[in-house]
Amino acid sequence: MDISQKQILIETKKLNKQFSNKFIVNSVINDLDINIYRNDFTVIMGKSGSGKSTLLYCLSGMDSVTRGNIILNNKDITLLSQDKLVKLRRKHLGFVFQQMNLMTNLSILENVTLPGYLIHKNKNIKEKGMEMLARVGISDLAYRMPHQVSGGQQQRAAIARALINEPDILFCDEPTGSLNSSSSEAVMDILLDCNENNHSILMVTHDVKTALRADRIIYIDDGSVKGEIYLEKYRKDKNLNDRNDMVQKWLEEMEW
Ligand SMILES: Nc1ncnc2c1ncn2[C@@H]1O[C@H](COP(=O)(O)OP(=O)(O)OP(=O)(O)O)[C@@H](O)[C@H]1O
Ligand SMILES: [Mg+2]
Repeated sequence: MDISQKQILIETKKLNKQFSNKFIVNSVINDLDINIYRNDFTVIMGKSGSGKSTLLYCLSGMDSVTRGNIILNNKDITLLSQDKLVKLRRKHLGFVFQQMNLMTNLSILENVTLPGYLIHKNKNIKEKGMEMLARVGISDLAYRMPHQVSGGQQQRAAIARALINEPDILFCDEPTGSLNSSSSEAVMDILLDCNENNHSILMVTHDVKTALRADRIIYIDDGSVKGEIYLEKYRKDKNLNDRNDMVQKWLEEMEW
């Protein structure tokens, strides 16, 4: 893999994040330097409490950083005003979490179109919402309420919602964490499809089977990068045994 050919989408420089109160300072991200490349499907792994979610929140501008820089699309987002950051987030970034956070009082379609209204305020947003629902295979559920669909279907709706503004990058924090294996497969297929359609993906997962689909896995330990591994582009028809062995061996080296 020739990294010099790749275009950097996110770059961090000596990133630090501390949570403090009057008793303690908890340093969660420690001088972290990382590059995330455009159009890559990047996975972040690491032990519980190693700072994966915190990193995702910082990189996506949802949480402030203590020190250091985050350059996203050639812009240092640590220097942006809250207002500009919110606009950038809505327009260029998508988020999918383990808990789908759908609005319980809105239909599936309304949930999906909500971020679209916030950006475009236009009339075609409903069509776009239906297009997104079709993309994730739940067009028939558009007018149901979130509690009337399954967990896997809610997660698909959350992905459709994240995609409505065609984000440059999709941040996913354990998007399959609360799903059974067939729903997980379906969600992963959708994410791969998004990636093939030029959305970069940065996903945290504990699940090796899920991580095997990535182009690159980064291992985080105590808030810094311990190691990384590049994989060949995933192909559904290819036998995964060798890939699995290689990643398992690497994870052992990482003391996972
Ligand atoms: N708001 C907060 N205030 C104080 N400490 C926090 C806060 N959020 C997270 N932490 C601490 O930061 C550390 C990293 O948390 P984080 O949620 O990023 O871990 P993680 O790698 O995502 O873990 P998991 O795999 O369990 O989801 C943990 O020790 C956690 O207790
Ligand atoms: Mg987490």
